[in-house]
Amino acid sequence: MNNRSTPIYGQITGWGAYVPEKVLTNHDFPPELETSDEWIFQRTGIRARRIAAPDETTCTLSLHASRAALTQAGVQAAELDLIIVATSTPDHHTPPVSSQLQHSLGATDVPAFVIVTGCTGFVYALSTAYQFIHSGAYRTILVVGVELLSRFVDWTDRSMCVLFGDAAGAVVIQATERACGLRSFVLGSDGSQSEQIMMHGGGSAHPFSQEVLDNRQQYVQMNGREVFKFATRIVGPACEQAAAKAGLTLADIDWIIPHQANLRIIQAAAKTMDFPLERFVVNIEHYANTSAASIPLALTENLANGRILPTDRLLLVAFGAGLTWGAAVVEMSPR
Ligand SMILES: CC(C)(COP(=O)(O)OP(=O)(O)OC[C@H]1O[C@@H](n2cnc3c(N)ncnc32)[C@H](O)[C@@H]1OP(=O)(O)O)[C@@H](O)C(=O)NCCC(=O)NCCS
Repeated sequence: MNNRSTPIYGQITGWGAYVPEKVLTNHDFPPELETSDEWIFQRTGIRARRIAAPDETTCTLSLHASRAALTQAGVQAAELDLIIVATSTPDHHTPPVSSQLQHSLGATDVPAFVIVTGCTGFVYALSTAYQFIHSGAYRTILVVGVELLSRFVDWTDRSMCVLFGDAAGAVVIQATERACGLRSFVLGSDGSQSEQIMMHGGGSAHPFSQEVLDNRQQYVQMNGREVFKFATRIVGPACEQAAAKAGLTLADIDWIIPHQANLRIIQAAAKTMDFPLERFVVNIEHYANTSAASIPLALTENLANGRILPTDRLLLVAFGAGLTWGAAVVEMSPR
C-alpha cells in the first residue's frame, strides 16, 4: 500500500476502441417500424449506428479495444495488475465477462471484475481504478467500457431500437509520480428513479419465463422523456463539481467528453454551463448511444484524429441507468 509521502497518480498511457463493421443507417430501418431519418436525426442527432456481427460478443468487442489500448501503452497483457470492465450487456449473467476478457487477453491470473452502472459505467470504472493506483495496491490497470446493446433492444420498438449501437473502448492506466491522470471525480446515484431505464426480465425479481418473453421484458425499456430531463439537469452541476474538486473552473478544461445519448441533451446542458458547445466532443451521429463505451470511444477517436492532444485537460461526464451519474477531470499528461 501507499505509505509514502509522494502521491501516486494514474496516467492514461494507452487507449483503443472497436466498432463492428456493419453500419445501420437511419434509412435502413424497415418501413413497418414507421420511423424516418428526419425524426431520428432531429430528435437525437443520430444518423447511424454499428451492429455486431452474429459471431461477435461483448467479450470479442472488448478484446479488440483492449489489445489496441495495450499496444498504444506498450504494455503486455501479462503485465496488467487488474482488469475492470464496465458493461450492462455481458456475454452471460455468469461468468463475469471480465474473466472471459482476462483469459482471452492471456492475462493469466490477473484479477478482473465488472462494474454495472449503465451508461455511467466507464466513469465509475475509471474512478475505481484510480483508487487501486492511488493506494499503491496496483500499478497497471486496464479499464474497458463496452456494450452490445443491439442484442438487448426490441427491434419492433421504434422508441428504443433507433437509439443504440454496439462498441467498445479501453484505456490503460499506469502509476506515476508525475501529477496527471484522474484529478477528481464525482459519482452519484438516485435509485428512486430506477424504473426509468430497466430490463424487467431475466433477473431474480422476474426470472426468465414464458410470461417474461410474452411481455417482451427481456429487452431494455426506458422512459425517454424523464431520462432526458434528468440528464439535462445533472450534466452541468456534475461537471462544475468535478472541476471544483480538482481546484479548477470550467475555463481550465480543454474538452468535455459527455456520454453520447442525445445531441439535444448535450446542447441543453451546454446552455446551462459557462462552456462553449464547440468544446464538447460529439460523435453520436455515427455511433448512436453506445452506453458504457461512448466516452472511451470518443476519447480514442479524437486522440487518433489529433483533435484532442495528449497534453489536454478533459472532463468526462456521464449519466444512465440507476439513475446514476459521474464526472471526472483527467489530465492526459503532467502540466
Ligand atoms: C427518446 C427520445 C429521443 C424521445 O424524444 P422525445 O422528443 O422525448 O419524443 P417522445 O418520447 O415525446 O415521443 C414523441 C412522439 O414520437 C414518437 N416516436 C418515438 N420514437 C420514434 C421514432 N423512432 N420514429 C418516429 N416516431 C417516434 C412517439 O411515439 C411519440 O408519438 P406520439 O406523440 O404520437 O405519442 C428522448 O426522450 C431522449 O433522447 N431521451 C433520453 C434517452 C436516452 O438517451 N437514454 C439513454 C440513457 S443513458
